[in-house]
Amino acid sequence: MTAVGDISGTTIPDRRAVISLLRRLRSPEGQNNPQPVWQELRALGDVIPAPWAGGYFATGFEVCNQILRGRYWLTPDFAWQERQPDATRWHAPATQEMSRTLSRLNAPAHTCQRRALGNLFDRNSLDAMAPGISAQAARLVDALDDRIRRHGDADLVPTVSEQLPIHTVGDWLGIPAEHYPRILDFTHRQVHAQELLPTRSELAISAEATLDMRAFFTELIRGRRAEPGDDVLTGWIHHWDAQHPDDRDAADRLLYDLTMFITIASLETTATLLSNAVWLLTQGTRWQWLRRHPEHIDAAIDEVLRYDSPIHLNSRVAATDTVLAGVPIARDETVHVLYGAANHDPRRNPEPEVFDILRRGGHLTFGGGVHYCLGAALARLEARLLLEALLDRFETLRPLSAPTYAPRMVFRRVTALKVTR
Ligand code: HEM
Repeated sequence: MTAVGDISGTTIPDRRAVISLLRRLRSPEGQNNPQPVWQELRALGDVIPAPWAGGYFATGFEVCNQILRGRYWLTPDFAWQERQPDATRWHAPATQEMSRTLSRLNAPAHTCQRRALGNLFDRNSLDAMAPGISAQAARLVDALDDRIRRHGDADLVPTVSEQLPIHTVGDWLGIPAEHYPRILDFTHRQVHAQELLPTRSELAISAEATLDMRAFFTELIRGRRAEPGDDVLTGWIHHWDAQHPDDRDAADRLLYDLTMFITIASLETTATLLSNAVWLLTQGTRWQWLRRHPEHIDAAIDEVLRYDSPIHLNSRVAATDTVLAGVPIARDETVHVLYGAANHDPRRNPEPEVFDILRRGGHLTFGGGVHYCLGAALARLEARLLLEALLDRFETLRPLSAPTYAPRMVFRRVTALKVTR
């Protein structure tokens, strides 16, 4: 048995209390303000049993950090799924599709794919992408301004927040803009399968979206093979064809998994960050302050990321029998890392409910360890370029009401945010 963590949390809370808190987290009230729920979950311990057998939630910053970075924790891959008593639960088409992607692979397959991708968004790549993202941000801010002038207000989400990420990743992969509405549509539908406990009808919606997604990206790769360009996807085709010289299907499968996953991983997450940034930075005097102190835009983005993480939860399984914050966890049991609860842990970020641009706090919003988000630098760049454009254009920008959210447990999604000047 390997002891992991020296954090307290040995009292076993009532499972009914946990069920009630999870229900609240998914309810409109919990979506509008998840912080009290995170606080109550954290008060139950650093590691608390889930309402089902073999599952736990990790709530404290240090314990979550240890799980994400620790070598005794794996992501729940195909091999793990097949060892589960209810293995059929994982057989839904959309779940299977996601299980082949980077986030659900362990070494050595994961290491091989991460190495092949390298640091996709290093300084040089970001410098090359910045002018295009900036120009797109300016066009979207024009559209927002125009709508506000004509109608008195505008919904930031469809006009700006959802557009910048799809234009950024679409442009990078050489996907024509006419396809963007379709990609956004199947991404929103597919994501249900990645919820904590998807219902049958949610899985059916995700299965249909998966077919659409597969058709789209298969055709994209076929087209790029026929007409190679000077782009990242053509580079991946060369790489994976060389790795599988006698097996074109295997190369195509890998190309599909990578292209599809990187695209969809970049969309809702970044859109939520952009909406959250506008919502949080237009409260009180923050907008005026940031206009006077643009040198703190990056710090403001990190405080937005800490304060309201676009992903609520991620799962790991124990590679071996272990003890986590005093709680014995058997091999193969699951621990769900609650990013929001961890980011609001007062032991890591004092007065966590205070939104403080200058706090220089730590957060786990992009995960940690070998699965650390591949697109973190790109998401931060999109947020910075958009905020610069908005701060420059709008002396005042005001939300007309609080944002609305999709009722989710895992991927937070802002569905509407009405703003005016
Ligand atoms: C604000 C925006 C984003 C957030 C909050 C976010 C968050 C995350 C998180 C929490 C993980 C899992 C880390 C872990 O398991 O420890 C992850 C993984 C990943 N993200 Fe992001 N992400 C964002 C934007 C992006 C973008 C823009 C891209 C690509 C262009 C991207 C691509 C990926 C990929 C490929 C992985 C899987 C990495 C792996 O498992 O090795 N993400 N992201």
